[in-house]
Amino acid sequence: MIPPKPPARPDKVSLWRYLKLFRQDLLSAQPARLYRAWMAEFRTPFFRSYLVNQPDLVDTVLKGRPDDFPKSNRISEGLRPLLGNSVFLTNGATWKRQRRIIDPAFEGGRLRDTFPAMWAASEAAVNRLAEQAGQETEIEEVTSHAAADVIFRTLFSIPIEHEVAAQVFTRFRAYQRAQPLLNLAAFVPVPRWVPRFHSRETRRNAAVIRGLIRQLTDTRMEEIHAGTAPDDLATKIMTTTDPQTGDRFDTDEMVDQVAIFFLAGHETSASALAWTLYLMALYPDWQEKLAEEARVLDGAPDFSVMSKLRLSRDVFREALRLYPPVPMMVRETTCAEHFRDRDVPKGAQIVLSPWHLHRHERLWERPDDFDPTRWQTENGKTCQRTAYMPFSAGPRVCTGAGFAMVEGPLILSMLLSRFRFERIAGREPVPVAHLTVRAADGIWLRVLER
Ligand code: HEM
Repeated sequence: MIPPKPPARPDKVSLWRYLKLFRQDLLSAQPARLYRAWMAEFRTPFFRSYLVNQPDLVDTVLKGRPDDFPKSNRISEGLRPLLGNSVFLTNGATWKRQRRIIDPAFEGGRLRDTFPAMWAASEAAVNRLAEQAGQETEIEEVTSHAAADVIFRTLFSIPIEHEVAAQVFTRFRAYQRAQPLLNLAAFVPVPRWVPRFHSRETRRNAAVIRGLIRQLTDTRMEEIHAGTAPDDLATKIMTTTDPQTGDRFDTDEMVDQVAIFFLAGHETSASALAWTLYLMALYPDWQEKLAEEARVLDGAPDFSVMSKLRLSRDVFREALRLYPPVPMMVRETTCAEHFRDRDVPKGAQIVLSPWHLHRHERLWERPDDFDPTRWQTENGKTCQRTAYMPFSAGPRVCTGAGFAMVEGPLILSMLLSRFRFERIAGREPVPVAHLTVRAADGIWLRVLER
């Protein structure tokens, strides 16, 4: 038995059919040969894109010469109304400056400081779920709620029940529903001169979300000036000066950054956790092992407990391999390149696909199998270094990678120490990629108290 994998499309399809497939789902729009290819070219009437699956070429793009491969604007279009000039979308000098101010907030030591807030959010998630024990439950909803709670608690020291936080959370869901543009804008061969329209609802929701975030940042700025601000991520980021220019984020820039922390930080973690819980239901022996290991959580929040959640970490890592929340990333060439035996023109789209790299048949042993022990094998260790990038890699690596690798195993273990998760016959999830890798009709599991 292998965990669910989306069907691949036939090798050759018409452009029209390809567009239709894309609109439905990024993953099933791809042919099976991408799981074996080192590189593939997609020619369309308007632009060319190249999927790069060869580890040393991925390295060139992300680590070797990242400045030559900036983020493609196409991916940004759908997110611009919400994210403005946030670090996720910017390039060049602006992006570098933003990272200099943001990165210190996510350093190892700071992670330890945010741990009690993560712990509190995990306990809250357990208490909420206890009310649904015995029922069939949509798990993505549960993990979204938990991950959003982690973000608000660590960033602004407020729980998700806080009036403004709750509104951001609800509005954000509406935004996502109304804004299916991301896939298309990024990959579909629409020529540049075609204007991209955001629906009125998308823009209205973006404006409301930004207004709410502004309330939080304005209040925080006042607290910082009054010397009463709590010592959390928002305060850290808003008081960090850029070592090169000596300036700080103003409130506008901070709104952009908070929007991306919320988006990048909760959607992704929620997706990863939901798939992990589904895998636990699929492999009950692993579920039991993790529940056993989770006994160490009995007590007060203590960061050192994380080093004892080894199995939980291996399982979470394996879930990120099989279901990377960000399935593909897009960069653009700024000069002509020669990759393998191909000339890649300037302005081409370079698609990096964690989804395909993580299941590459020439790199991984039993690529589609769920096997958390693989990280201890030679092949697993090699692939972890060369063919594993759920958080991307290089200078543009996810700022929250370390954060997510604490939050994920912690919430997972807390939930498993209290509940058992079981599959529901006839409700196996089918992965599809929208903003993140989600299940087409949610992930339904039966939740039972242990
Ligand atoms: C399992 C959880 C997560 C996964 C799989 C994940 C994955 C990623 C990936 C693949 C990228 C690079 C995207 C690209 O280059 O196109 C990224 C960027 C980013 N992530 Fe995460 N992320 C996770 C959690 C978080 C958390 C918790 C935060 C913040 C609290 C965060 C903040 C960011 C930010 C700010 C960026 C933009 C970095 C830049 O472009 O310089 N992420 N993430």
